[in-house]
Amino acid sequence: MPTAHTDAHWAAYNDAQAGGEVRPLCGEVIARAGDGAGHTAIDFGCGAGVETRALLRAGWHVHAIDAAPGTRQRVLTTTEVSDPARLTIEVSDFHDLAELPAVDLVYAGYSLHFVHPLAFPRVWALLRASLLPGAWLAVNFLGERDSWAPDPEMTFLSEASARALLEGLDLVSFTERDEEGAAYSGPKHWHVFDVIARRPLPKTSIPVGHDRS
Ligand SMILES: C[S@@+](CC[C@H](N)C(=O)[O-])C[C@H]1O[C@@H](n2cnc3c(N)ncnc32)[C@H](O)[C@@H]1O
Repeated sequence: MPTAHTDAHWAAYNDAQAGGEVRPLCGEVIARAGDGAGHTAIDFGCGAGVETRALLRAGWHVHAIDAAPGTRQRVLTTTEVSDPARLTIEVSDFHDLAELPAVDLVYAGYSLHFVHPLAFPRVWALLRASLLPGAWLAVNFLGERDSWAPDPEMTFLSEASARALLEGLDLVSFTERDEEGAAYSGPKHWHVFDVIARRPLPKTSIPVGHDRS
């Protein structure tokens, strides 16, 4: 993990987020994707589990991943899960992930920039490979003008490189924010790409409405 973000930092950060609102990007992808019943989502960097809880409430099975100490108890407390069969919690560093389940939705909220630039292509390929046909993807990438960009252990992307990562997906929305703001650690400049995309469904050889007879 980046030197600035220790286990103790993340445990304290996530404790402080437990009562927070669902991130708008996650709310939007849940609304677009519709009823999650019978489908699985990954919450990549689930933190306190606020978005995991929103996904569970929308009917999804959720595979929640985070490395922070205390993640399991924190997520169970936040989600007050009534059906444990719909929630799996993987306490793992992103860099140690070898495989991910095949899913219909991936939410990676403010987490991907914590992947080391050298590991990013492999981790991104794992996430892309987890998307079933028709699956939804909602991610934040941090851009090159972010005030954390000098950190060589974190990943920051130009708009062109962010768009290149999405090649082959249907882009639903791609929004750039480049503004002063606040973080848990204090004031900072946020340069963020908020993305919603979908893996296309396979093209059928017989177009809908085409008479086969
Ligand atoms: C800024 S928080 C985002 C939490 C939540 N996804 C959200 O949208 O608010 C980043 C999360 O990523 C986790 N994280 C950071 N680096 C990580 C790593 N290398 N492996 C696994 N989890 C990591 C932290 O513990 C934290 O919960």
